[in-house]
Amino acid sequence: MKGLPEVSGGRVVTLDGPAGAGKSTVARRLALNLGWRLLDTGAMYRAVTLAALRASLDMTQEAELARLVETITVELPPSRVLLNGEDVSSLIRAAEVTEQSRFAADSPSVRRRLATWQRAFAVGNDLVTEGRDQGTLVFPQAFRKYYLTASDVERARRRSAEMAARGEPADVDDVLRSLRERDARDAARAIAPMTPAADAIIVDSTGLTIDQVVDFLAADIRDRLSLRDLSS
Ligand code: C5P
Repeated sequence: MKGLPEVSGGRVVTLDGPAGAGKSTVARRLALNLGWRLLDTGAMYRAVTLAALRASLDMTQEAELARLVETITVELPPSRVLLNGEDVSSLIRAAEVTEQSRFAADSPSVRRRLATWQRAFAVGNDLVTEGRDQGTLVFPQAFRKYYLTASDVERARRRSAEMAARGEPADVDDVLRSLRERDARDAARAIAPMTPAADAIIVDSTGLTIDQVVDFLAADIRDRLSLRDLSS
């Protein structure tokens, strides 16, 4: 993103892609496998959205979101999301937050502020980061970039199974409809549209298990790491 300082961080692996492709689980397992830190950037947009809902902001007003994001803190210690120090890990998964998060995602001020936090997270840390724009805009120099996708029908099936497991059963067709809407919005937004980086490896997880995807990525990264060691 223009205007952001270059950071001399650790190695960064970016994992971008649409909702329901298995990104969160894959990113978590990959980070564990490599012993690297994990950054869930969607959780940051969700935390900003929760703060905006609590403050009853008109989220169509960029100035209101811009002011808000300057007055809150969002921190991601391992496995938790803190908004102004409060643990909101579960609250940010509420359907209303999911639905309303597009306003924060469309806001240039929010994106700028979160990108700064995301880059700060990489300073001194090897990192697996997941989102929509990590390989394209936030970490264009990433060590390795992946774009994880799957057919929309498979993604909807996975999402509705996850929701059922959380005790919120949802019809697969409804989930598919809302997922397609979200994909279209994410891909069409004027700022930071969801698209694979030119140098990203596209991984289609349709028909693959999470283990297969994680094993593939971990092996690919280890190959790159050993190649780098050999050439230095
Ligand atoms: O991935 P998740 O569903 O948690 O993302 C929450 C919201 O944040 C979505 O609206 C998504 O489009 C947006 N997002 C984004 N850029 C990112 C990560 C998430 O715009 N890097």
